Amino acid sequence: MGAISTISSSSLSALLLVCLVCSFNSEGAAAAIQHRHTIHVSSLLPSSICQSSAQELDKKSSLRVVHKHGPCSELHQDKANIPTHAEILLQDEARVKSIHSKFANKGSINDIDQNDAANLPAKDGSVVGSGNYIVTVGLGSPKKDLNLIFDTGSDITWTQCQPCARSCYKQKDPIFEPSLSSSYSNISCSSTICNSLSSATGNSPGCSSSACVYGIQYGDSSFSVGFFAKDTLSLTSTDVFPNFLFGCGQNNQGLFGGAAGLLGLGRDKLSLPSQTAAKYFKYFSYCLPSSASSTGFLTFGYGGGVSRSVKFTPLSTISDGTSFYGIDIIGMTVGGQKLPISASVFSAGGAIIDSGTVITRLPPTAYDALKSAFRKQMSQYPMAQPLSILDTCYDFSKYSTVTIPKINFFLSGSVVVPIDAKGIFYVNSISQVCLAFAPNGDDTDVGIFGNTQQKTLQVVYDGAKGRLGFASGGCS
Ligand SMILES: *[C@@H]1O[C@H](CO)[C@@H](O)[C@H](O)[C@H]1NC(C)=O
Repeated sequence: MGAISTISSSSLSALLLVCLVCSFNSEGAAAAIQHRHTIHVSSLLPSSICQSSAQELDKKSSLRVVHKHGPCSELHQDKANIPTHAEILLQDEARVKSIHSKFANKGSINDIDQNDAANLPAKDGSVVGSGNYIVTVGLGSPKKDLNLIFDTGSDITWTQCQPCARSCYKQKDPIFEPSLSSSYSNISCSSTICNSLSSATGNSPGCSSSACVYGIQYGDSSFSVGFFAKDTLSLTSTDVFPNFLFGCGQNNQGLFGGAAGLLGLGRDKLSLPSQTAAKYFKYFSYCLPSSASSTGFLTFGYGGGVSRSVKFTPLSTISDGTSFYGIDIIGMTVGGQKLPISASVFSAGGAIIDSGTVITRLPPTAYDALKSAFRKQMSQYPMAQPLSILDTCYDFSKYSTVTIPKINFFLSGSVVVPIDAKGIFYVNSISQVCLAFAPNGDDTDVGIFGNTQQKTLQVVYDGAKGRLGFASGGCS
């Protein structure tokens, strides 16, 4: 009132006129802008040139993160390996199924038959999928660079190893040769470390000529079996870990798309964060780039620099006893409007965050509310055919810019996670741009906060304090 009383009557009437105009718009012009993204349709398609953002790597203990199939990836040249969008979404479903079965069978251990790994049961384990992100690390002495998929949903790190006694799939890097590394050694079957494989892989270890044998299988019949070993891991030139425990795969098969193996960032004691805890205190953060033609980062330890705006949510107990990091989703907004979903819908199955699941999975009740609010606020745009599991698609071919509702997640601890404009859609083509969310089969299935929605967010994993942090604008 004080401010209004000091302005002249003519400007007051001008103000009233402006407000009369704005009141025609039910929400108010300012509010409408605040709750919507305006994007250039052309920006939805990745460029074929890598736009590397170098400043992100000024941080200590940082690795460059690239999308496996984009122009910033060394694996990119192998075009024959690039799956179609429909295949990516199908593999994503397989990963989600295996995550759901892990939660259903929490704590159960299989017996592997190391002599016939091809018969490994294909029901458990996390699918490596194809919507994944890779980093380059060094292994052995002298070190050999390997492109590995990083995965917050599994624990052991493995790479294909010579002599590939049973089988190796095609990879871009030369296959690791343990005999050429002076620091390599096998783990013995009698060691307690060998026994700790049971919780990390879900399979009890095997033994071959007194060498410890690991086996890990992924839901779509991908697997790796081989010697459990130790060697020097060089994350960066200054961050070098002697005696790092990893799998030296002699029988490997699956959808790893040219990557040399996998970097396990889960919560088990054999995971990379656990093995490097003395230096990094189980603290790491990453930013997944907005597109396959840009780069993000994976940083270990407190020295990496975390955005001041990061907000922390406690790790949910839902994921205790699994590899996964649990979150408590409280609610969601679409275009500034709170979705009418009761908190019990989200708590029924709980949720996890996963670097390897492409599309966020919601309880069906929550997804229905999201879908109808989103469709209502997008009603000015023509819809397009569904794409696999994605049922809300648009044809933007007649537009140069589009205005879309912002989507926010609310997590316990008063954390708001704003989804970037690039995290809302999965783009098949400009004439088929789909809302990148899908329903679970049942409200009691665990929800998954997937990697499309994580784009450009800095996500902080603070294992020692049992919390996860989120900040927007982590990378471009
Ligand atoms: C590791 O164990 C396997 C199987 O016994 C053996 O072939 C290989 O030579 C061993 N490597 C080393 C460095 O001991």
